[in-house]
Amino acid sequence: MNTEQHFPTDSQQVTGTLALSVFTAVLGSLEFGYNIGVINAPQKIIEENYNATWMHRYDEPIPAGTLTSLWSLSVAIFSIGGMLSSFCVGFISEWLGRRKAMLVNNLFAFIGGSLMGMSKLCHSFEMMILGRMVIGAYCGLASGLTPMYVGEIAPTSLRGALGTLHQLAIVTGILIAQILGLESLLGNEQLWPVLLGVTIVPTVLQMALLPFCPESPRFLYIVSKAERAKNENISFLFAGLRRLTGRLEVGDMLAEMKEEKRRMDMERKVSILELFRSSLYRQPIIIAILLQLSQQLSGINAIFYYSTNIFMKAGVQSPVYATIGAGVVNCAFTVVSLFLVERMGRRTLHMLGLGGMCICAIIMTTALALLESVPWMSYISMLSIFGFVAFFEVGPGPIPWFFVAELFSQGPRPAAMAVAGCSNWTANFIIGMCFQYVADLSGPYVFLIFAALLLFFLIFTFFRVPETRGKTFDQIAANFHQHSAGGMMDMDMDLDKPSTELDYLGEESIN
Ligand SMILES: *[C@@H]1O[C@H](CO)[C@@H](O)[C@H](O)[C@H]1NC(C)=O
Repeated sequence: MNTEQHFPTDSQQVTGTLALSVFTAVLGSLEFGYNIGVINAPQKIIEENYNATWMHRYDEPIPAGTLTSLWSLSVAIFSIGGMLSSFCVGFISEWLGRRKAMLVNNLFAFIGGSLMGMSKLCHSFEMMILGRMVIGAYCGLASGLTPMYVGEIAPTSLRGALGTLHQLAIVTGILIAQILGLESLLGNEQLWPVLLGVTIVPTVLQMALLPFCPESPRFLYIVSKAERAKNENISFLFAGLRRLTGRLEVGDMLAEMKEEKRRMDMERKVSILELFRSSLYRQPIIIAILLQLSQQLSGINAIFYYSTNIFMKAGVQSPVYATIGAGVVNCAFTVVSLFLVERMGRRTLHMLGLGGMCICAIIMTTALALLESVPWMSYISMLSIFGFVAFFEVGPGPIPWFFVAELFSQGPRPAAMAVAGCSNWTANFIIGMCFQYVADLSGPYVFLIFAALLLFFLIFTFFRVPETRGKTFDQIAANFHQHSAGGMMDMDMDLDKPSTELDYLGEESIN
């Protein structure tokens, strides 16, 4: 890949303000990833602490079933918080503006981090569970606000490259959590409250830096409605644009925003109910939901939440290091996908990822089942977990997020993003809550369930999901229209008209 094409020279250089603003925003993604990964390594220690708390209160050891319930709840309630708050992203970001919304959101992180950090001190697993829910609410908002803000402040030619930093920050956060979770660092009996509480650090940093970042010019121009606010905003708008671009002449960017506003005004806002009622949107919304489900029900979070436990069962010598290895693979393949997605197309990569994960899941199951009789199977199971994670980041990890934005135009997009976000977090919750139970029941065969689901999603993608690479919204919509009218869906329609807005969240043309 040619980096010179990725970072065009002359007018689109990365200014200090732009770099600072993007860095500040993706601190939210980092924290999101951190809280996905952090719960993994200290599972045993925190469970012992729950047991000790129970002893302290009732003078008897905690029943095993109660412990599993409490732990699963601690893991999964994170997604309830995210589910509820991801639904409010659209509303809050329009009400407060992108920047202030991020600033206020930090309150959640602060409260959540403090509750979790002090739960041991206060002998209260309720505080831990509540803290997980509050930090989940933070992550739900951050997972919407960060890509929105970054997408809006980035110049068009850098939007894709900067947009992918969101996903990269998430996987980096997961990796940091895994490293800090080492027993020799913070993942031990004394320091685990610090491990959970340290999530406050990026929060404080983000709060300190946000006042130096400009509000999104696109928000100031397009969204704010009141006339008086408009006049006031215009001066902010120009100041912001000049700081972000480092140029005095910002007429071209203003013209582009004008065009976007014109397109937006032409389209009516579509409500969530209408999305399902109208035959025009039904097909794409079903695809959007199933793609989100394919991301979560692939079993990836079963790995991220419980990998240390799985590695331990697989007889790997130092399970925590294996978990960190999975984190490194995760980061590396996110970068790989970034380079492949404009060359190979979304549909192909998604199918490649699902298929690869399915095969890895089957190998993993076989290896775990044979472990008793064939000791070196522990290496096979470890390798297949690495493969599972790698294939995830090739397709099902990054693609569903921006694919939704590509399937819908301005009018129905906010509603579609809310529905997609909510289905993603719901599936996330189901996995977090049920995995431990199902794993206890079915032993090594638990991943066969994921293999079956993966196969289903693979078949669905093959028959139903169109390729959107390099297509305009009109072409994508025409595709669905044709289909709902009974015509064949032309999946390989290769039109070379370049997309204008398609790369909303995702990336830019690399070739
Ligand atoms: C809880 O702790 C007690 C004693 O410390 C121990 O005997 C018991 O096995 C523990 N229970 C669980 C479910 O770990």
